[in-house]
Amino acid sequence: MTELLWLNGEILSMSEAHLNVEDRGFQFADGVYEVIRFYHGMPFTLDLHLERLWKSAVGIQITPPMTPDSLGDQIGDFIGKTGIRDGMIYLQLTRGVSPRNHLIPDEIAPTLLFYARPLPPVTAPGKGEGVSLLSIPDERWKRCWVKSIALLPNVLAKNAAVAAGADEAAFIDLGFVTECSTSNLFAVIGDKLVTHPVGTKVLPGITRQVVLEVAGELGIEVDERAIREEEAPRADELFITSTTREISWVARWNDT
Ligand code: PDD
Repeated sequence: MTELLWLNGEILSMSEAHLNVEDRGFQFADGVYEVIRFYHGMPFTLDLHLERLWKSAVGIQITPPMTPDSLGDQIGDFIGKTGIRDGMIYLQLTRGVSPRNHLIPDEIAPTLLFYARPLPPVTAPGKGEGVSLLSIPDERWKRCWVKSIALLPNVLAKNAAVAAGADEAAFIDLGFVTECSTSNLFAVIGDKLVTHPVGTKVLPGITRQVVLEVAGELGIEVDERAIREEEAPRADELFITSTTREISWVARWNDT
């Protein structure tokens, strides 16, 4: 089946779509993104993703070219057209096209695109092999709450983890665990759920937010604080959360 792409309001076949080489997303990683899960053709927590997209965009002074409601409608219609039932939407919003210059031009129209990919179901919590984490220095900028497409530190950390036989990198900043290269991290310590606060050092993960809401409903005490690196392997349980991995239990922290 032809893979479809929604590009600036038009639906095209992915192989026929063209992007300008002077798109600032391409030249400066000047943009933000979202990954939105859908199940049975229905986007999951779409409003929360759109809200975060707007915060990320405003955080780097990009004005999205439509309202959250109309973008949500476009995403819903698009999923129907792809024929994919269970998968993810990758959405990217860049500042747009202009002759290469670090200075942001006054007049520039953002580039907005999204496409869908099928995803297999995630192994149920506690089942399967579990995730193996490798701790790696956190070398990212201090606006991790922006879901920026500038992901080179994440990409390099993830690749270093996989090269060492792990699945995912756990970032360490000044002796504390912040989050992972593509996910948030939770620890169960005693009867508390512990996770780093979001903000400068941690992305406000939507799955994290849902887990915290569910914990509240279940009366599980949550402690939003930074975990020391040496606390992590001693925790009663560790798990990571993300749109694509949902809740995945951690089987290994470095050699433990
Ligand atoms: N990543 N932290 C980082 C650094 C992430 O890249 C992600 C998600 C998360 C979890 O956020 P959410 O629960 O909203 O998916 C936390 C996506 C899936 C990605 O880059 O593909």
